[in-house]
Amino acid sequence: MINPFWSDIVRDLEPYVPGEQPKLANLVKLNTNENPYGPSPKVLEAIATESGDSLRLYPDPNGSALKQTIAEYYRVSPDQVFLGNGSDEVLAHVFQGLLKHSRPILFPDITYSFYPVYCGLYQVPFERVPLAENFSIRVADYERDNGGIIFPNPNAPTGMLTPLADIEWLLEHNRQSVVVVDEAYIDFGGETAISLVDRYPNLLVTQTLSKSRSLAGLRIGLAVGNAELIEALERVKNSFNSYPLSRLAIVGGVAAFEDDAYFQKICRRVIDSRQQLVIKLTELGFQVLPSAANFILARHPQQDAGELMLQLRQRGIIVRYFNQPRIEQHLRITIGTAEQNGQLLAALKQLIG
Ligand SMILES: Cc1ncc(COP(=O)(O)O)c(C=O)c1O
Repeated sequence: MINPFWSDIVRDLEPYVPGEQPKLANLVKLNTNENPYGPSPKVLEAIATESGDSLRLYPDPNGSALKQTIAEYYRVSPDQVFLGNGSDEVLAHVFQGLLKHSRPILFPDITYSFYPVYCGLYQVPFERVPLAENFSIRVADYERDNGGIIFPNPNAPTGMLTPLADIEWLLEHNRQSVVVVDEAYIDFGGETAISLVDRYPNLLVTQTLSKSRSLAGLRIGLAVGNAELIEALERVKNSFNSYPLSRLAIVGGVAAFEDDAYFQKICRRVIDSRQQLVIKLTELGFQVLPSAANFILARHPQQDAGELMLQLRQRGIIVRYFNQPRIEQHLRITIGTAEQNGQLLAALKQLIG
């Protein structure tokens, strides 16, 4: 029975279901692509310093200090930077402010499952473009009338990277619509498309501090693009929430970009662990898609993926399973510490025999 007070939109919404955050201790948690290493000590120091009397005051609504830091880091101007409460919020504003038109937007059939949810919330028509047989994004398939294009690079949950040259091809062939590259995982093996924003006024790149900078709990997302695209996002943001970033998030975000050595070190560790894990899983008979992310998508030709996920769970190891066509025999596994990966491999060895 639907409550009569609900609006039509709310009645028809199919909300996103995030990977679970179980309350149990001692779990090997490889299900939501968090970083297994903590944030930079300089981030913790900055947050501790800010935690005081100043918290009674609102934060800078513009997050100017963080915009300035990001602009310097990526060699763009601060008016080309947008900030949000996690990149999910940035993406929400993108769907409402830049992708909502009468023509359908395009995204891959296998991709971040929040995209169709935003389409439902903001009434954006969309079409899914099938990935190639090998799960890569074939940019030529996007050469058709559209109200915008969005995809993650590397794609989620495949982990596969679309080369920058292909992205440039897409931009060349879509000058009439916005192309959004969601770079949530770019730091684990890809090259950012931010270098192209000055040449393509239709390019918007989104990123997050949740993954490569270990700050999923602080909620900081960003977008970089042409200043006029950013202005559209600011208009939505300033009609929605003036203060998406707390004082703690602003100072923590600045410190995260300033401590580049720590960032490089933990990215390298995750990449090395990924390479080791792929080798070991392959030895166990798994087929693993080539990943440039902090997770992998893998299947075992003789094992049912749903069953394997449940068996791992009973052993305290949580991985992500999507009961969805084309990937229902795959598991998405976040790269953990060497110890966590070892526990996963030991459990799989027992299960597969
Ligand atoms: C492809 C992709 N984009 C965006 C996000 C959102 O990240 P956040 O809101 O933590 O910045 C995620 C998180 O899992 C993701 O997988």
